[in-house]
Amino acid sequence: MCGIVGYVGGQPALDVVISGLKRLEYRGYDSAGVTVLADGQLAAAKKSGKLANLEKELAARPLPSGTTGIGHTRWATHGAPTDANAHPHLDNSGRVGVVHNGIIENFAALRAELAERGHALASETDTEVVAHLLAEEFSSCGDLAESMRRVCRRLEGAFTLVAVHADEPDVVVGARRNSPLVVGIGAGESFLASDVAAFIAHTREAVELGQDQVVELRREHVTVTDFDGVPADVRAYHVDWDASAAEKGGYDYFMLKEIAEQPKAVADTLLGRIDAGGSLTLDEVRMPASVLREADKVVIVACGTAFHAGMIAKYAIEHWTRMPCEVELASEFRYRDPILDPRTLVIAISQSGETMDTLMALRHAREQGAKVLAICNTNGSTIPRESDAVLYTHAGPEVAVASTKAFLTQLVACYLVALYLGQVRGTKWGDEIGSVIRELSAIATQVDDVLGTMEPVRELARSVAAAGKNTVLFLGRHVGYPVALEGALKLKELAYMHAEGFAAGELKHGPIALIEDDLPVVVVVPSPRGRSVLHDKIVSNIQEIRARGARTIVIAERGDAAVAPYADHLIEIPPTPTLLQPLVATVPLQVFACELATARGNEVDQPRNLAKSVTVE
Ligand code: AGP
Repeated sequence: MCGIVGYVGGQPALDVVISGLKRLEYRGYDSAGVTVLADGQLAAAKKSGKLANLEKELAARPLPSGTTGIGHTRWATHGAPTDANAHPHLDNSGRVGVVHNGIIENFAALRAELAERGHALASETDTEVVAHLLAEEFSSCGDLAESMRRVCRRLEGAFTLVAVHADEPDVVVGARRNSPLVVGIGAGESFLASDVAAFIAHTREAVELGQDQVVELRREHVTVTDFDGVPADVRAYHVDWDASAAEKGGYDYFMLKEIAEQPKAVADTLLGRIDAGGSLTLDEVRMPASVLREADKVVIVACGTAFHAGMIAKYAIEHWTRMPCEVELASEFRYRDPILDPRTLVIAISQSGETMDTLMALRHAREQGAKVLAICNTNGSTIPRESDAVLYTHAGPEVAVASTKAFLTQLVACYLVALYLGQVRGTKWGDEIGSVIRELSAIATQVDDVLGTMEPVRELARSVAAAGKNTVLFLGRHVGYPVALEGALKLKELAYMHAEGFAAGELKHGPIALIEDDLPVVVVVPSPRGRSVLHDKIVSNIQEIRARGARTIVIAERGDAAVAPYADHLIEIPPTPTLLQPLVATVPLQVFACELATARGNEVDQPRNLAKSVTVE
């Protein structure tokens, strides 16, 4: 997820673009850049790091003044967060500038094509290919909007593009596929941005661009077509949010926004990793197949929510690869003198890539000769930099301390790694891998489906808060057990309640003594279609706690008739394969915890005592 701003009008473009980028910095902050049109030229500046670094650069080396410009604040997906990889990207003539949000899946083929035609590409990014393609098309048609349409017809993946050309000094052109882009309509000026937060200081009249549309911005008018040049109908609307709400997309909290972004985050994490034939393509992992083939065990190290993702990954890795897989709390790992050698594959899972416990664990593993693969959401952070290889999740920046979309994308990445191990080691046939990939590709829609049915969960959370309950237990079996732990963690860190997750089979070995009248107990029920023995046993567990007075809150597949009679509250989720169920079962628990915290008057995005990235041991 990145922040994009475009402007054409009567104000100094640099002022408008920089102030807009400040409003979008939450969308990405590992580099930033601007391009301004002045005296028939493009003048550009870009710097790695936060926007403040760019502002220092501009103070030291000011750009000429102009009234047309574009800007970008980056959340890196392809290419580390360096000056060279920062946007805007220019073609070799320096007359085309472009910024981008999304993932161009076929960029490698396009790069090769451009190199053959003599283009010298200066960055590692997917975006830069667009600048060179636009330059080629403009040289043949002489129109930036038409050039953009022609280029978009060649791109695959998710992309929002905004471009300028020195030969059209009063024009900014944008294109949208999947990633958001909105137009601001002012008096004698027009704006483009990733969200309205960037321009509502200037105008509240907005137009949302639709899928596969190109927009040409001029001072006095805006033209929108589809990728074939056919005029498009667009919806104009008045923005009544304040700037702060706009940064949260109209949600009260970043956490709510990030819960809602999960379908896209899951889909984006699959983008570019499945080829046209439905096979896995994880070349980006850059770990030789021989290392993966020779590995004789997997050890996963992580903390908190990332540790829960690792627990779920264990089931997939062992089931699909038949490799032993241990999951360790990173803070405990190196003190237990673990058995590691060059045939151990260590997987370090971290959203921030800066968690010191996890970093120290991977350093210890590497000192013992193990190979380390990072699964991380923050491009260029310390953990991937110190690992042998990395598979990035594409959740976009996760601002709320309580992790939600990062967790779901960690699960997707773990499933991909497990499948990749199976593919490389020959323990899964291509058709079996293809079948799981098809099921994974359907998950984004299923998460969206769950999000649409959450009002009863919010009502339940409010009733638990109103009842003054301060303890909630969570039960699960198999992959439902880490989901129970994750649900408990969410409630701890958001509602400041005593919440504990158990393996349901463990209840009778002590914890059942905790059950008392009206105690809320959340139970994550496995699919009745999978390992039916798991399902039947957990139904028995529900009866056991209900017999002792518990208030049963049951998360189960739609149509699971066996469990319904024992559920005081039934939260239904769409059917999924057993191993993939955590991707949908977790969502109600996120919503439950968030709503309960809100009902208790807690600060949701920055809960007490917590930090988004724990950079101390
Ligand atoms: C989860 O909601 C918490 N914010 C916390 O447990 C977090 O998952 C943990 O600190 C690990 O962080 P990381 O993924 O950035 O390494």
